[in-house]
Amino acid sequence: MRKIKYIIKIIRNIILPSKDRNFENIILFSKLIMPEYRLMWPQMEWWNDQFFNDYLLKFQEIDGLNTHRKWTLWQLLRLVENVKGDTAECGVFKAASSWLICCHNQKNSSDKIHHMFDSFEGLSLPNDIDEQHWKKGDLAVPENIVIKNLKEFSEKITINKGWIPEKFSDYEERIFSFVHIDVDLYQPTKDSINFFYDRMSPGGIILCDDYGFTSCPGATKSIDEFLNDKPEKMISLADGGGFMIKGVQTSPLKMEGC
Ligand SMILES: C[S@@+](CC[C@H](N)C(=O)[O-])C[C@H]1O[C@@H](n2cnc3c(N)ncnc32)[C@H](O)[C@@H]1O
Repeated sequence: MRKIKYIIKIIRNIILPSKDRNFENIILFSKLIMPEYRLMWPQMEWWNDQFFNDYLLKFQEIDGLNTHRKWTLWQLLRLVENVKGDTAECGVFKAASSWLICCHNQKNSSDKIHHMFDSFEGLSLPNDIDEQHWKKGDLAVPENIVIKNLKEFSEKITINKGWIPEKFSDYEERIFSFVHIDVDLYQPTKDSINFFYDRMSPGGIILCDDYGFTSCPGATKSIDEFLNDKPEKMISLADGGGFMIKGVQTSPLKMEGC
């Protein structure tokens, strides 16, 4: 009965459309076909940010499902403007996130170098903890696409082709202010946080794009295992992903109520 009411409302809204009614239809459709899906208000100021929309268009992300996490990345970079150390990304794909990091470094006229680590052959072999979501070779993008997409920042980047953690040893003496880990799987996520944690400056941020996604159980587990005996824990973000700030004591995520 309730479903019929929804359908009648949907038809009325189609016949007499308005911005509010279109949004109501999104809510009603979602109740019909995926009731557990949680929508968000559409009045977000940042959705009208011209610079950010141009960036999303450049990487064909504007209609995708990653825009919120890209905005979060862009905002978190503001926290590390005065933190010493280079920036890095583990898992680069087409360099959409690396572009934001490089752009932020450049806007702040900083001398930070951005270091990128990727196989450029896609994901490594998932293990049992990663369950069935990914397979070896998924998300492969050739290195020359990254070179092209970051050509305006070519003086301030390094591109390190290889299976994580192969190339980390070249950077043992470096310190970092911001590291983005986005490799989807248990083992390379673990290798990444294991290498970078000790090299983060106080106030530096490690952001893991995959943290908290049920499609990336291995990534979440590896980070939580690593931080278990550390003062910092992950802040789990509403739109997916999580971050920690080096040196900032954080209580463990408690799932029980008060
Ligand atoms: C989800 S994509 C990264 C997306 C990118 N950070 C962005 O924001 O657009 C995952 C990337 O991780 C890389 N990758 C996965 N496992 C890896 C491993 N063990 N070693 C090196 N690169 C790996 C893949 O080649 C792929 O480019």
